[in-house]
Amino acid sequence: MDRTLAAFLDEIWRSGEEHDARETERPKRMLNITPDTGRLLWILIHATRATRILEVGTSNAYSTIWLADAARATGGRVITLERSPEKVKLARENLTRAGLADRVEIREGNAAETLAALGGPFHFVFLDADRANYSTYLDLTLPKLVPGGLLVADNVTSHAQELADYLTRVKSNPALLSVTVPIGKGEEVSLKLR
Ligand SMILES: C[S@@+](CC[C@H](N)C(=O)[O-])C[C@H]1O[C@@H](n2cnc3c(N)ncnc32)[C@H](O)[C@@H]1O
Repeated sequence: MDRTLAAFLDEIWRSGEEHDARETERPKRMLNITPDTGRLLWILIHATRATRILEVGTSNAYSTIWLADAARATGGRVITLERSPEKVKLARENLTRAGLADRVEIREGNAAETLAALGGPFHFVFLDADRANYSTYLDLTLPKLVPGGLLVADNVTSHAQELADYLTRVKSNPALLSVTVPIGKGEEVSLKLR
């Protein structure tokens, strides 16, 4: 990653943290992944040469920029899903400033409805939206994930109770090999074996 983009990511992340500390309405918070999580996503995409990348939960596109910069390195593209029109607008502005708008398609609307109609396949899926629906997102994305593809879910240590069903399902599915990586808010990394 070049220094200008790294500095821009740092700027978005800091302003997101400051904004979230002031904002009392949760839906208006940015709720970004941590920089370490961004590095993990970038490394996983780069190492697996993933080109078809899907994100559920865009917010201001902090994580999307990590994904899209990795996609630039692999020659890939990102589809990201977000229901808030205000956040979609902000995400577009940030992606344009990052020089990555042409790598990313933002689909505005309810993620479950968008996913049901979305064609695959995908090599890499990142879940970071409404946690109550992670198991639904698992059902909707797993058939579209290629064997050898990765499914990563955020917040699995910060909200382990809420994600108990999702974690039980990915850890017990014989078609997946899954591990909790204790960085950031906790990332569940699941490899689709077949
Ligand atoms: C934790 S934030 C995403 C943060 C982002 N991945 C990042 O790290 O920069 C979750 C986002 O998911 C969106 N979201 C929540 N439920 C959704 C749903 N059912 N459909 C689409 N987007 C949803 C929220 O509006 C919010 O912007």
